[in-house]
Parts: sequence; structure tokens; C-alpha cells
Amino acid sequence: MRNRVEVMHGVNLDVLGERDPEIYGGFTLAELEVKIKRFARDLGLETAFFQTNHEGEFVEHLHRLPELCDAAILNAGAWTHYSYAIRDALELTGIPAVEVHLSDVAKREPWRRRSVFEDLDLVIGVVKGKGPEGYREALEMLKRELER
Ligand code: DQA
Repeated sequence: MRNRVEVMHGVNLDVLGERDPEIYGGFTLAELEVKIKRFARDLGLETAFFQTNHEGEFVEHLHRLPELCDAAILNAGAWTHYSYAIRDALELTGIPAVEVHLSDVAKREPWRRRSVFEDLDLVIGVVKGKGPEGYREALEMLKRELER
């Protein structure tokens, strides 16, 4: 059964509870992960989590993804907007992925509007501005993809 989803959080997501609550909601990463796990369980999906503030570690974890999971959710934080190294590593995985942002990056500073991942074929969706619910949406998209 293909039901393993790796949820990868990038730079500064570890300090979620301390970041502007108006923008990010005020919950911690641990609280967010409890919610994501619950959403996944409701859908019959298994989740594992990874977070780092080091780009190379994020890249190396992407290199391991094919052994670890069937699909991925990525919130790479600010790396989303400029890291071609992460883009290349994501492409290499060959695994379907959804890009998630808690905040609505389309309505913030102009530099946040650009994602260097979203045009990859394996990125089957981008969810922004929906807070934790965005992860439920991402999981639903991946479930449909894995059942195809
Ligand atoms: C973010 C949006 C990014 O622009 C920002 O750098 C983050 C978090 C979000 O979840 O809204 O760190 O990815």
C-alpha cells in the first residue's frame, strides 16, 4: 500500500510559536505536527516529519526520500523563493509532492510570490494561506495521486 507521506519543514519553521501570530497563527511546530498526523490518520495515510535550518541537510534528506516514503509535503520556508539546490534535489526524488505555506505568500512581500519549486512536474499542487488546514488539503491531493 502506498500511503507514506514525509512532511518536510524548512528554515525557521522550528520557531513557529515565536513568529508573528497574525501571520503564522501562534501555534508551535509540535502542535502543527499533531494536527497533521490527525488529518493523515483520517485519510488512512502515515506521516513522518523532518525539520532543519540547514539547507544541505534538507537536500540530503530529499536524497533519502525514495527509500522513506511514497509522497511528500514541503514547506521549505524562505528557501522556497530561491533555493535551486533544493529544487534540483526535489526533482531527483521523482516523488509526488505538494508545496504548502501557512501564510498567503501571494499577498505578502513581492519576493515571496515566487516559488522555484512549483513548476516541477512532480509538484502536483501548491496550497497557501490556509494555515494548518492547508496540510489537510495537501494530504487529500496526495491521497488522490497515490490512488491513481
Ligand atoms: C512560509 C512562507 C515563507 O515566505 C516564509 O519564509 C516562511 C514560512 C509559510 O509557511 O507561510 O518561513 O513558507
